[in-house]
Amino acid sequence: MKFFIDTANLDQIAEAEALGVLDGVTTNPSLMAKEGITGRDNIIKHYVDICNIVDGDVSAEVIATDFEGIIKEGEELAALHEQIIVKVPMIKDGVKAIKYLSDKGIKTNCTLVFSPGQALLAAKAGATYVSPFIGRLDDISTDGLSLIADIRQIYDNYGYETEILAASIRHTMHVIDCAKLGADVMTGPLSAITGLLKHPLTDIGLEKFLADYKKGNN
Ligand code: G3P
Repeated sequence: MKFFIDTANLDQIAEAEALGVLDGVTTNPSLMAKEGITGRDNIIKHYVDICNIVDGDVSAEVIATDFEGIIKEGEELAALHEQIIVKVPMIKDGVKAIKYLSDKGIKTNCTLVFSPGQALLAAKAGATYVSPFIGRLDDISTDGLSLIADIRQIYDNYGYETEILAASIRHTMHVIDCAKLGADVMTGPLSAITGLLKHPLTDIGLEKFLADYKKGNN
């Protein structure tokens, strides 16, 4: 399972990268705004800064919502750095643009996916990644994890190579459940990655090992 971090915060990206388990980064306009990154030039520079920190795929989201605008913006983003993945929303012109971009060899991440049918369309258009937002489904009392299971089944039935990128991950159990269901990638906050480290028996066991070592080596 690939681990992506879902943030535009450079310190958090560097911390996850230093842990040695990071495979990429996802961003979106809200995450950029949260870090105070505004204006096209600053946003472009920030994408390149992220690429220079992490060794892996970096999703950069288009703002345009019409076919011509999406492909123009997508081609510009893709030209920024070889690690850039063009993130395109699941709308009609987005599907057309994903097909166009993937035919040109540009990698894409189809975002804002909330149903198996949308995921099927993304795969047929040739998306590199599909991003089902499981946390936002959970937020409205809908089972986000069952969407991951449905997409896994559909993609396996037909051998689609589009990778399932479980997005809107909120906590460690989302990560574990998505891994059990066969999601190819998860993207979430740093806490969902570092939270996997924690177990009280690990802490208690280590404390005892170190205390016993001290007793025998005084
Ligand atoms: O980046 C897309 C997705 O992960 C957003 O997550 O927490 O805003 O629902 P969230």
